[in-house]
Amino acid sequence: MLTRLDLQKMKEEKQKVSMLTAYDYPSAKMAEQAGIDMILVGDSLGMVVLGYESTVKVTVDDMIHHAKAVKRGAQNTFMVVDMPFMSYHISLEDSLKNAQRIFQDTDAQALKIEGASDEILTLTERLTNAGIPVVAHIGLTPQTVNVLGGYKVQGKDKHTGEKLLQDAKQLEAHGAIAIVLECVPKELANIVTGSLSVPAIGIGAGIDCDGQVLVYHDILKYGVDRLPKFVKAYTDLNSEVEQAIQSYNEDVKNKQFPTDDYSFLIKNKDALPKVG
Ligand code: KIV
Ligand code: NA
Repeated sequence: MLTRLDLQKMKEEKQKVSMLTAYDYPSAKMAEQAGIDMILVGDSLGMVVLGYESTVKVTVDDMIHHAKAVKRGAQNTFMVVDMPFMSYHISLEDSLKNAQRIFQDTDAQALKIEGASDEILTLTERLTNAGIPVVAHIGLTPQTVNVLGGYKVQGKDKHTGEKLLQDAKQLEAHGAIAIVLECVPKELANIVTGSLSVPAIGIGAGIDCDGQVLVYHDILKYGVDRLPKFVKAYTDLNSEVEQAIQSYNEDVKNKQFPTDDYSFLIKNKDALPKVG
């Protein structure tokens, strides 16, 4: 199992960190077998697995349910679990309780929270002091999409770029073990990455980040229709799966399945009950 110190070392030695989301037992198992460094149980599960329009419907119970399955599938991989919408904004006390539940129930190695407000900085410090490692997430923060006004590239001008850099440094100073940068220009991500001593994990943030994270269903093109610009699809499971299910459906209708190859046959006919 990777540790936060290994992560640190990887940054120092300029080895890239690979991170992929997973939401259940098989996806986690395959990510681990493929050698992925860190698994993220993202609240993107709201969209890619549960069919919601955004991440705001996802609950703490949803995250725990999925993260437990992920852990069973990838027991030797560093697992980060997202704290979902509004589970860390109502009061510091409630946030700590929710974090404790997610962390203890799922055997996660770290929790991820979005943003860099004073409340988030305080929470990052409190969780870190309590023994819960925090992965930060800035740039495009999908839980606040309704405030941001859409899924847009962040930090495109001097003011917002400077703010992003300061936010990243503040999060690091408050204990964050890694920082996810989502949808920021490559050049800005390069500057932020170079200014941090903890790894910057990019998604739509260019090649210079210390690592990359993408959504499982996106890289496989599985159950998703449109892909954002920053996603590279490494296969097209949509068409493979659709074809396979279509063939099965036709075989059943056309009485092509199951043939005897797929049936249990009895040798001794006397063993069968008499009809009538
Ligand atoms: O929920 C998620 O999948 C994420 C990644 C896109 C960083 O937060
Ligand atoms: Na997320």
